[in-house]
Amino acid sequence: MSNFLESLYSQATFNLKPSPIREMLHLIRRPGMISFAGGMPDPEIFPVEQFKEAAGILDREGKDVLQYGTTEGYLPLKEFLAEWTAPKMGRKLATDEILITTGSTQIVDLLSWVLIDKGDWVICEEPTFLGATLTMRNHGASFLTVPCDENGMKVDMIPEMVEKARKEGKKVKFIYTIVNFHNPLGCDLSLERRKKLIEIAEKYNLLILEDDPYGYVRFDGEEIPSIFSMDTSGRVVFACSFSKILAPGTRVAWCAGNKEVIRKMTVFKQGVDVCTSVVAQAMVYEYCRLGHLDSFLPKIIDHYRKKRDAMEEAFRKYLPQGEVKWLTPRGGFFYWLETPKVKAKDLFEKAVEKKVAFVLGEPFFPNGGGEHNFRMCFTFASKEQTEEGISRLGEALRELL
Ligand SMILES: Cc1ncc(COP(=O)(O)O)c(C=O)c1O
Repeated sequence: MSNFLESLYSQATFNLKPSPIREMLHLIRRPGMISFAGGMPDPEIFPVEQFKEAAGILDREGKDVLQYGTTEGYLPLKEFLAEWTAPKMGRKLATDEILITTGSTQIVDLLSWVLIDKGDWVICEEPTFLGATLTMRNHGASFLTVPCDENGMKVDMIPEMVEKARKEGKKVKFIYTIVNFHNPLGCDLSLERRKKLIEIAEKYNLLILEDDPYGYVRFDGEEIPSIFSMDTSGRVVFACSFSKILAPGTRVAWCAGNKEVIRKMTVFKQGVDVCTSVVAQAMVYEYCRLGHLDSFLPKIIDHYRKKRDAMEEAFRKYLPQGEVKWLTPRGGFFYWLETPKVKAKDLFEKAVEKKVAFVLGEPFFPNGGGEHNFRMCFTFASKEQTEEGISRLGEALRELL
């Protein structure tokens, strides 16, 4: 670090930690590497032709779309989302209950601006999406982490945690939860626990950030009502994104919530990026208006179900049975694995020698843990790569046992 810079940096810069996943990308791009690391959609099924067709909106609206847009978001897209999300939201939203954002990562950032003072506390699952904790940490948040089982976070533990924290003078502000096909766990938060979570939020005056980028990518089982749809007191901010259901390169996402909170987030957004790319929003809107979103969803569900099944089959075929634990996800992008006798770090080193990559569990634990866990994304690699990669992983694991 240059000396002259050190005296200029903010406290936040001193606390800055890069995302271990983002930092790994150069490693993953090595020739011959089979990667199960990043949570990336399969580029083979990106709807390139349909998106090119959607670009036709520039013929019609080019002069408006190339202008600055409102911070609240491109109105036709908000109107579309108000209708389209009604089954999940439990009702048709008003457009001022929706804010379009630049990726759903920005939703975490904006809500953190609204709620977090340096030193405040957020309740989250253990483990949880590290992108979100990274963002909240930038605002000076610390975390009360709640262990999970196959039904998601053990919400019954929250009341005691909050009471203890508040007795110690800690300010606990909101609960961050990934409700469907959790990243990294792959599990769903059960209906009963969703209901309990609202009761807890009401009793302890907390907000809930319901992060649901994977909910539309369900392979098996019944859809579970969103927490937002069950909330009657305006405590839930629901976050979703086009990243996993269309393409992450659009960087278009949205959130829904209490008008007052949405308005505050909007004002912070004015100072963050003025507005989300209007060109991107308009093309996403046109893509949706032409019916491509509705026809693409069954296609990705079918495609990713097959990929999940291929990974499951390869696990059974190549991993030493009894030495690895996993839960079969009913949707989404990820498997979460546990190797009780082998440290994930050791396995990672061996695997990388054999040109296979995954993500270590530890960074998903804001307060430490996960030494024997790792995450595998099943959507990105081809069927052949999955088979080959997991056979190499099996070899690496056998060498360590
Ligand atoms: C749980 C969760 N939330 C949010 C995001 C970020 O999505 P976006 O691309 O919209 O920023 C991801 C991406 O992997 C995620 O897994």
